[in-house]
Amino acid sequence: MKRDFVHITDFSSDEIQEVFDLTATMKALVKKGKEYTPLKGKNMAMIFAKPSARTRISFETGMSQLGGHAIYLGPNDIGIGKREAVRDIARVIARYDDIIMARLFDHTHMLELAEYSTVPVINGLTDLNHPCQIMADIFTVLEHRKHLNDLKIAFIGDGNNVANSWINLAARLPMHFVLASPNGYDPDETILKNAHNVGISRIEVLHDPVEAVRDADVVYTDVWASMGQETEAELRRKAFMPFQVNGNLMKHAKKDVLVMHCLPAHRGDEITDEVIDSPNSIVFDEAENRMHVQKAIIVKLLQ
Ligand code: CP
Ligand code: NVA
Repeated sequence: MKRDFVHITDFSSDEIQEVFDLTATMKALVKKGKEYTPLKGKNMAMIFAKPSARTRISFETGMSQLGGHAIYLGPNDIGIGKREAVRDIARVIARYDDIIMARLFDHTHMLELAEYSTVPVINGLTDLNHPCQIMADIFTVLEHRKHLNDLKIAFIGDGNNVANSWINLAARLPMHFVLASPNGYDPDETILKNAHNVGISRIEVLHDPVEAVRDADVVYTDVWASMGQETEAELRRKAFMPFQVNGNLMKHAKKDVLVMHCLPAHRGDEITDEVIDSPNSIVFDEAENRMHVQKAIIVKLLQ
């Protein structure tokens, strides 16, 4: 049975730990300049219906480091769901390649891709979630803090795809996760309900950024208007300005707080220069770990 990684919850807690162990091993090899090429002769198709820097570069470089090859298909190439039905392109690519990574708008297209592809599918972001990002994020937190017990993670901003994946993670690893968003910008209800039902984490959704950040160990933010929401940007800027992660807000967090952002950042909107460039910021460790964690996810799915 082929496996997919479309949601963090597709992996059990033990499997997430296995991915992190493999990530740490493979990252150490890269740092020592040692080759590890278990995927010689393997090909990955990368479908991008939206723009990307990190996701494209990290998957492509990662595949190359593993001895395999990645093929970039940009927004004008396939026309997934428009020029060609999702189920058809899923079956076509599976005849050529060993694994698919896709960044799509509609999450139901990701589900259809996974259903009809006979090779593993990795979700590189949809409007609903961004699982690879949050796997890299929590791996990064663990590099800096060793364990999650008792850590308060505050997500300030939109209850978007990135926030939804944090909540999915809270259904697999125990943590205290607090999200503060303006009214009307809450995370996905079903994902939240599922995480509450699993019951291993303390999860709070608030509308007060100061309360969320108070004594936080990690403060995380993301853009106010995600890809595809560009026309709402002005409206959103007004609603989100009180949720800006700036020096004043950060005074309420712990002194050694870790500042995180999935990037790209809109400096001066959701986060100020003084915060993202502060010594507490680990945003570039996060960005680097996208590659190491994704390599482990690929190896796990192809083993
Ligand atoms: N964080 C992230 O996914 O970045 P890109 O959109 O540049 O891939
Ligand atoms: N929420 C953002 C994340 C980008 C990596 C978006 O979807 O545009």
